[in-house]
Amino acid sequence: MSAPEVFPPPPEVSAAAHIPSFKKYQEMYERSVQEPNAFWGEIANSFYWRVPPSQPLLRYNFDITKGKIFVEWMKGGVTNICYNVLDRNVQEKNLGDKVAFYWEGNEPEDATSITYAELLKKVCQFANVLRDQGVKKGDRISIYMPMVIELVVAMLACARIGAIHSIVFAGFSAESLCERILDSHCSVLITADGFFRGDKLINLKVIADEALKKCAEKNYPLKKCIVLKHLGRDDVFCDGTSNASPPCKRPCPNMQENKQEKQKRSHPQTPWNPSVDLWWHDLMKNASLECEPEWCDAEDQLFILYTSGSTGKPKGVVHTVGGYMIFTATTFKYVFDYHQGDIYWCTADIGWITGHSYLTYGPLANGATSVLFEGLPIYPDISRMWQIIDKYSVSKFYTAPTAIRLLMKFGEEPVKRYSRKSLKILGTVGEPINPEAWLWYYNVVGDQRCPIVDTFWQTETGGHVLTPLPGATAAKPGSATFPFFGVVPAILDEAGEELEGEAEGYLVFKQPWPALMRTVYGNHERFETTYFKKFPGYYVTGDGCKRDKDGYYWITGRIDDMLNVSGHLLSTAEVESALVEHSSVAEAAAVSHPHPVKGECLYCFVTLRDGHEFNKTLIDQLKKLVREKIGPIATPDYIQNAPGLPKTRSGKIMRRVLRKIAKDDHDLGDISTLADTTVIQQLFSDRCKTVL
Ligand code: WT7
Repeated sequence: MSAPEVFPPPPEVSAAAHIPSFKKYQEMYERSVQEPNAFWGEIANSFYWRVPPSQPLLRYNFDITKGKIFVEWMKGGVTNICYNVLDRNVQEKNLGDKVAFYWEGNEPEDATSITYAELLKKVCQFANVLRDQGVKKGDRISIYMPMVIELVVAMLACARIGAIHSIVFAGFSAESLCERILDSHCSVLITADGFFRGDKLINLKVIADEALKKCAEKNYPLKKCIVLKHLGRDDVFCDGTSNASPPCKRPCPNMQENKQEKQKRSHPQTPWNPSVDLWWHDLMKNASLECEPEWCDAEDQLFILYTSGSTGKPKGVVHTVGGYMIFTATTFKYVFDYHQGDIYWCTADIGWITGHSYLTYGPLANGATSVLFEGLPIYPDISRMWQIIDKYSVSKFYTAPTAIRLLMKFGEEPVKRYSRKSLKILGTVGEPINPEAWLWYYNVVGDQRCPIVDTFWQTETGGHVLTPLPGATAAKPGSATFPFFGVVPAILDEAGEELEGEAEGYLVFKQPWPALMRTVYGNHERFETTYFKKFPGYYVTGDGCKRDKDGYYWITGRIDDMLNVSGHLLSTAEVESALVEHSSVAEAAAVSHPHPVKGECLYCFVTLRDGHEFNKTLIDQLKKLVREKIGPIATPDYIQNAPGLPKTRSGKIMRRVLRKIAKDDHDLGDISTLADTTVIQQLFSDRCKTVL
């Protein structure tokens, strides 16, 4: 590899930055890892505590050979995260009239905004609604909603009363939603009638109903489902009679749109089960605007967010109140170099961790103004993103490599149609960014003016762990550069030895930072085995990593049976278990395969039962099955008929070999453990050459 180009921070960015030099970063970093209690103690002091935490803030055990794994920050401290991100901004910081969110709908003419004071009122109202429905501290609430302000309202209302939210991305299937409701024993589901993704109508309530039916079949009948009228919002909020607070500022499509537009929006009746379903707006009507927060211990659970696990069953990643609060706030401030006056836009869905940490909690803790975008990057046209950037004068923009690669395909012209002159800092997250996409982002989107922060982190880490700081770190395209404050990375070899200097191996972390996950919901043992067993004393990320001669970290991708499709983790096991549910399929193996836009995609091998035929119909059925079981993101790009699969003598499928076959790479490496080599040639000659 030739030496990559280095991009030092522009002097004008450094001059105004919180961390203006690499030297300053190094000083703060040293202190953060040498004296974590003092470092985070000062940060914690800038939040509101009913009962301030006492020293030492941190107690933990990372070594499974010495006993139970645990991490505690500020235990005994009493606070409320919703109070910190809303009430304090309104009451102490005078930000009540400041816009918290500009909401930009799927259709460009659909837009509204909400201030901090208005958001606080709505959250209090909805928190009272939840209390009225019997929700108490510690109860789990499933939220399955599109990208609307009420999604933020619902999550903060949970946080306010100490209920644990479990948000399920609205692209997941009924089966996936059901599985998550059951795993966390949720008592209430909050959803919406539906939404548009581009010109596709998603009847969310229909899917939610299907999930509830499945739950009931599994002896878990959910008693309450709160439904937001989003598609039919105009009937409720724009008829002049509503007492919605704040009044809806959204232009009413009933009045403005031509017939064709109206038709596009017309939607079927929302299915209704009167003994379970409750309209959001009915419940809100009489709810009080004041709601005393539930005062929580710093180590009380804040939320559960499911992420794929290599066994196929998703893991409920648990984050707690205090550590998550101070870490997301601090990373947001330094990584995006946030200043009052910035307009920040993170394109992630709130259903993923990025939307939790960097669309909701992190920005709100800083009193920031964000754009909350419901739509798609290239709908209704390929300039939508750049148009939104100009519309709101976005200064900090955070998106995923897959989106950048998608937009790159259309060339520079759609970007250049808009000035983007407000942009100051660009960010990426979700997967390694290829240098070509990095350079396009830098040169074309940022006009060579804006530093790029390539932020490496995971659902489990809660916030950024490896990342440049825009005023301090010289970037190298494709490298997530250096650890954030409090984070101590190491690279291990297979034997668990720490490698020094230039090296490649397993990426691990040596000590906890405040937002590290605390447990897998309901299964602490799984937490211990997944992250702490392979190398005792370390948190194991599951990612491979290289360190270059200058100490920069480069993520090389997953080294477990996981793959990253468009920045979203999937496990090969969950896809395989969906495929084998088909009556024609005897065995299945799914592997990751390079994809020009998604980064990685699924290439599946299926062995059929005797007498079953491999044809187009079967392929379509299999794709549909995966979509229904997991969701559209998991739809395989390739399905190959495999008369047999390469296995070790003990019967373990050698996915490493299958990955090579999919790529037509005949350099198979060591295959001495392969039980039967005859199948290999057949698999190579039957390769799928084009996407199905
Ligand atoms: C996995 C975590 C963190 C929010 C989105 C994904 C990959 C994430 C980067 C990056 C290289 C990255 C890793 C990680 N990943 N960001 N900047 N460079 N790889 O959250 O679903 O928990 O996935 O995404 O493989 O382990 P997630």
